[in-house]
Amino acid sequence: MKASVDDFARVVHVQSALRRIATCVARGAAPAEVLDAVATELGLLIGTDGAHIVRYDAEGSATVVAAWGTPDIGLPVGTTFSLDGDSVTAMVRKTARPARMDGYADALGPLAAHLRQHHVRGAVGAPIFVEGRLWGLVTATMTRDEPLARDSEMWLADCTELIATAIANAQARADLAASRARVVVAADQARRRIERDLHDGIQQQLIALAIELGDAQASIPSEQSELRQRLSTVKRGLTGVLDDLREMSRGIHPTILSDSGLRPALKGLARRSRVPVELHACVHHRFSEPVEVAGYYIVAEALANAAKHAHASHVRIEATVRNARLHLTVRDDGVGGADPSRGSGLIGLADRVDALGGSITIDSPPGRGTTLHAELPFELH
Ligand SMILES: Nc1ncnc2c1ncn2[C@@H]1O[C@H](COP(=O)(O)OP(=O)(O)O)[C@@H](O)[C@H]1O
Ligand SMILES: [Mg+2]
Repeated sequence: MKASVDDFARVVHVQSALRRIATCVARGAAPAEVLDAVATELGLLIGTDGAHIVRYDAEGSATVVAAWGTPDIGLPVGTTFSLDGDSVTAMVRKTARPARMDGYADALGPLAAHLRQHHVRGAVGAPIFVEGRLWGLVTATMTRDEPLARDSEMWLADCTELIATAIANAQARADLAASRARVVVAADQARRRIERDLHDGIQQQLIALAIELGDAQASIPSEQSELRQRLSTVKRGLTGVLDDLREMSRGIHPTILSDSGLRPALKGLARRSRVPVELHACVHHRFSEPVEVAGYYIVAEALANAAKHAHASHVRIEATVRNARLHLTVRDDGVGGADPSRGSGLIGLADRVDALGGSITIDSPPGRGTTLHAELPFELH
């Protein structure tokens, strides 16, 4: 009777732990956050004081990817250790089955020595298979002077499938984000190439033609005023084409962005905007190219929308850096009611921002203007 009550309690516990983890996975939390949640739930579930998720590396070593527990046993996320010697990690690697060590007193090897030093008295582990391959293991450790419960391995094993799903999902999401980032980068490279071809090729040729035309015009005798007039018209046309071309290549890839950075580029956008702009750009350093390009396109698109759709009379742009993230806010006082599903600009921005691991929100109540806010994580360049 006792056993079945315990079993039932265990099932309930496992179910609610799994539900919390599944919610975390479904929320699209970052892989590290999911694995941390798993380690925490498992530790609490088993009644132990440490839980780790460990990934096997290609060579005889393993790396901690999630860690939970007090006291700290000195194996934080990112620690890599060798599989030499006696450890649950090595045993699981060898047998691909759950394993247990009830004491480290006589255990050999560097990991065992480390655990002894941190007063670990026992450990259990269960393998994690991802897509049919032994990926790593989940371990529970105990520093208190009490044995790890007999069925600890079972508790661990109950959860490894969900951990595997979480890892596979996280991996798939990471792969997807990486592939979207690659698409964005490839498109940007193509744009830069086109911009360079336009600038170095067509634009230079047109400039040379304009100069030649100017010379020709100057050499025409004054009595041939009609010819002079016609050449003037041609020259004006040529200058117009050059202006259009410059404007176009700026839209393809703004040279000022790569030359001088985000702040001057935003100033340029503000200056050329059809709607009056109030710009607060407190960003003085250079970011990586994808971040600068994203920042530029976000503001460019928001300004274009403010002019094209919002009928705004004023736009406020704010660019600041907080917590290693570039924050951009563009607010117009127009008609509101922006809807990304009705166009392509805002969706394109979302793709670009997602690929960089950032976020974008659009608040656009009808009649009350539109606020676009984007956050981009960055490393200083
Ligand atoms: N600032 C804004 N104010 C009002 N409506 C907007 C604004 N921005 C976008 N919209 C509306 O949302 C739609 C989607 O915008 P967007 O994705 O930029 O597409 P588009 O390519 O048409 O500019 C637009 O067609 C427009 O109807
Ligand atoms: Mg648009």
